[in-house]
Amino acid sequence: MSLYILDHPLLLHKLSIIRDRNTSVKEFREIVSEIAMLMCYEATRDLAVEDVDIETPVANATVKRLAGKKLAIVPILRAGLGMVDGMLNLIPSAKVGHIGLYRDPETLEPVEYFCKLPADIAERLVIVIDPMLATGGSAAAALRFLKERGCVNIKLMVIIAAPEGVVRIQAEHPDVDIYAAALDEKLNSHGYIVPGLGDAGDRIFGTK
Ligand code: PRP
Ligand code: URA
Repeated sequence: MSLYILDHPLLLHKLSIIRDRNTSVKEFREIVSEIAMLMCYEATRDLAVEDVDIETPVANATVKRLAGKKLAIVPILRAGLGMVDGMLNLIPSAKVGHIGLYRDPETLEPVEYFCKLPADIAERLVIVIDPMLATGGSAAAALRFLKERGCVNIKLMVIIAAPEGVVRIQAEHPDVDIYAAALDEKLNSHGYIVPGLGDAGDRIFGTK
């Protein structure tokens, strides 16, 4: 598996805004969506294409189009929802599955409360999205659910990763590539990423 840090200047700039505690909910939500779109562009760089014959207004041409079934996007609820629109801006025909997990604040273990996936998800490239990879418990559980349903081609896209989460995904899901806009320093004693951006779900939905 590989860890790709997508440190494009536009991503760095947008990340600096969502890290700022003074950024409003409106702006936070908009920028999370923009970051997801930019990251999606990079994370789909290796999609397969195939030749297709078409006619332009001038001549016949053989052009490239995406090959095979389109991909599936799977946000981890809640915070992953904030990244869906940005991804769909680039891949409007993607299917969207949902996995609902919350992290128990005491044990930091993920608790599942919802799972609804496209019927043919096993045949698709799946991109799991969540703004934060902290202990890695939520993402590891989501990847496990997907594999139990037959998925074999999965990527994980997060905005900020902690080293602890990366190590856990590497250990439990060595076949899954991770895409992140930043690899932060560490987790604090409450399992928050340092410096991070706080609670991504609360900041996207304005619940605190
Ligand atoms: C956050 C975040 C991840 C998880 C990361 O969700 O969006 O899903 O924590 O932490 P982990 O890597 O230690 O599992 P949270 O549990 O706060 O739920 P929410 O999205 O509903 O706010
Ligand atoms: N979940 C968040 O939303 N933020 C963190 O820093 C860690 C987990």
